[in-house]
Amino acid sequence: MTAMNKVPDNSRYAHCIESSKRVRWDIDEDVIRGRRFDTAHKFLPDGLSLTDGFTTLSSDERRFVSQIQGRTYANIFGLVERFINAKVLELSRDHALGDQVVVEALVRFSDEELKHQTLFRRIDAMVGEVLPGGYRFDFDPDTVARAVLGKSTWAVLALTLDIELFTQAHYRQSIDPDTELSELFKDVFLYHWKEECQHALLDELEFLRHDSALTAEERDRAVDDFIGLVAAVDGILQAQAAADAGYFAANCGRTVEADEVLAIEAGFLAAYRWQYIHSGARHPYFAKVLTGLITENQGQRIQAALATLH
Ligand SMILES: [Fe+2]
Ligand SMILES: [Fe+2]
Repeated sequence: MTAMNKVPDNSRYAHCIESSKRVRWDIDEDVIRGRRFDTAHKFLPDGLSLTDGFTTLSSDERRFVSQIQGRTYANIFGLVERFINAKVLELSRDHALGDQVVVEALVRFSDEELKHQTLFRRIDAMVGEVLPGGYRFDFDPDTVARAVLGKSTWAVLALTLDIELFTQAHYRQSIDPDTELSELFKDVFLYHWKEECQHALLDELEFLRHDSALTAEERDRAVDDFIGLVAAVDGILQAQAAADAGYFAANCGRTVEADEVLAIEAGFLAAYRWQYIHSGARHPYFAKVLTGLITENQGQRIQAALATLH
């Protein structure tokens, strides 16, 4: 038996199956429940949209910013869950002729990510029904997934753990007792979080299993791959911040001068970096898992790369 096949204890995988069965939800019956979005509400909570940073905007304009960010939230998740699911399917092949408990846990993980992608496509379309036309999200999930999956599995699993932990941090933000926050969007956070808890546990188990088969040199290269992936995520966030600032300026109902557009773009980018990079990277559990696998020097390289994204 090679290290890649070794699963010392399947009880944690079994626990994920039990939790997955217990929390399982349906997009229409549980999350959407016949509701529509209402532009009187914020779609993302202030702790995620960082609207305090949009100092030139009125409160109505900040609400519009949170709605644009809500649509982008759905699109970014649609994007990342494509490569996450492809990687999970790939990992499940390592176990296909082995421990069937592990296979079941990973198949359920995959099934849930397919459902989440459907949910986020629905949310994108539903937000599109209530906001002005002209919104753009120009990234193709398959093209991005192909580029991500070209990197080492270690790096993809590190990024995936980061992402699945930050969905938990986002849920905690969404339960803030904010009466202006969309109840429907709150439920998107709630239901997504319920299934992502199991995903983060499985990410860790598969990450540790995969890591144990790597040489020190392979892991060192994988750390560079991870830094490259975070930079690639940031490239997407920069482009989307520019697109969303342009959309805001074109649809906010007043003339926005070029200088202010740049300030608004910086506000979007700060929020997106918080949502999709730092809220995961600073998650204590992410730091704990990662530092258990890497050297001090590798940790410093990662921190130095993250520090440039402010
Ligand atoms: Fe998900
Ligand atoms: Fe997930």
